[in-house]
Amino acid sequence: MIENSIVYRNFRGKYEYLPISKAQGSEIWDKDGKRYIDFTSAWNVTNLGWNNLEVNEAVIQQAKKNVQGLLWGSDPIQEEYAKALTSALPKSLDACVKETGGTESVETAIKIARTYTGRKKIIGFKNSYHGQLFASVALGYSPNSVEKLSPLVPEIIQIDFPHEDVGEEGFDKFISDLENLLSKEDIAAVVTEPGIITGWGSTVVAYPGFLKKVKELTQKYGTLLIVDEVGTGFSRTGKLFGIEHEDVVPDMIVLAKGISNGASAIGTVVGQSVIFEKAFSDAILVSTFGWTPIACAAALKTLQIHRRDKVWEMAKKKGEYILEKLKPFVGKAITSLRGKGMEIGIRFKNPETCSEVRKKSFENGLHVVVGGNDNMQIMPPLTISQKLLDKGLETLIESIRK
Ligand SMILES: Cc1ncc(COP(=O)(O)O)c(C=O)c1O
Repeated sequence: MIENSIVYRNFRGKYEYLPISKAQGSEIWDKDGKRYIDFTSAWNVTNLGWNNLEVNEAVIQQAKKNVQGLLWGSDPIQEEYAKALTSALPKSLDACVKETGGTESVETAIKIARTYTGRKKIIGFKNSYHGQLFASVALGYSPNSVEKLSPLVPEIIQIDFPHEDVGEEGFDKFISDLENLLSKEDIAAVVTEPGIITGWGSTVVAYPGFLKKVKELTQKYGTLLIVDEVGTGFSRTGKLFGIEHEDVVPDMIVLAKGISNGASAIGTVVGQSVIFEKAFSDAILVSTFGWTPIACAAALKTLQIHRRDKVWEMAKKKGEYILEKLKPFVGKAITSLRGKGMEIGIRFKNPETCSEVRKKSFENGLHVVVGGNDNMQIMPPLTISQKLLDKGLETLIESIRK
């Protein structure tokens, strides 16, 4: 099957194999011409709809000028994008690193934190996802599940993520445990998504005030806060960036996925220039394909559309609508519904029900993914029309009812 072809991850039946022949907006067609309404956005990538015409056109125009950058030089579109991106973020995040995707950017942020602070230890959260390399895997995977890959990067400590249902007492304990760790003043950085886990497939929302508290404590003890917005960035959770929910300014923010709407591979770490200047004089941090001019053209147009159309408002409104439509099934097939904006988790009463709902939805032309065993992660393009959203929800609800 894979001879002269591609090796695909064994998704153990969690995902359907979908050979795409065409994709537009919130619709995908397979090789036999069957149409699917998309509730995945390629896992938080095509937030503005598949093959957004304006973004793709920006790529075409840039391809007529120049497609490759230099490690030791710049193209005007790279500079223009850096200005546009930093002006969309809090003022202190004033410098960007050129990267190719999420994993590379997370790894670079960790390198910067170690180099800048002179400390080795990094804190991550159990059952979170930050990418595929040895440090990013070490942040969130349980060590037993990746034993064959080990040794991973040492000195990465995993702690429990304080879910919204831990209660006040549970949250207080989380804070005091975290403070205990940080007070030794040997932790370089804490790495977390901004209050919702989008990468692991569990769609777990944090206890209110989580990010604010983590920021307060990291700042107190000289630890850097790295917020991974690879999944939450670019309007997904109802704000342009997830950090806006609690008005937190981290030391570094990591962006990828929705950054170019899927038109080209790109990622970045945005942070304080004083931190970057020190780190970059002590460590070699370069990427041949980081921020190619075509990727920057796609990313610039993507950012302009998000800001021009206030796409986060669409995410907020439609996210609330989805939750409202699914609420009547909580306590029946669904045990819990969680989410922010159009990043929604449906937890089913057992993995079998979840898998059955996915299968039926797929048969009936709805493209959905199962993250955790019993959790379906709903992430439609934020620009989905009301008509397609309703049709998709109708298909999903029919599959839940059966
Ligand atoms: C939160 C988060 N961080 C990092 C990554 C890694 O990004 P990439 O697949 O672009 O390397 C992902 C990918 O799913 C993610 O969801």
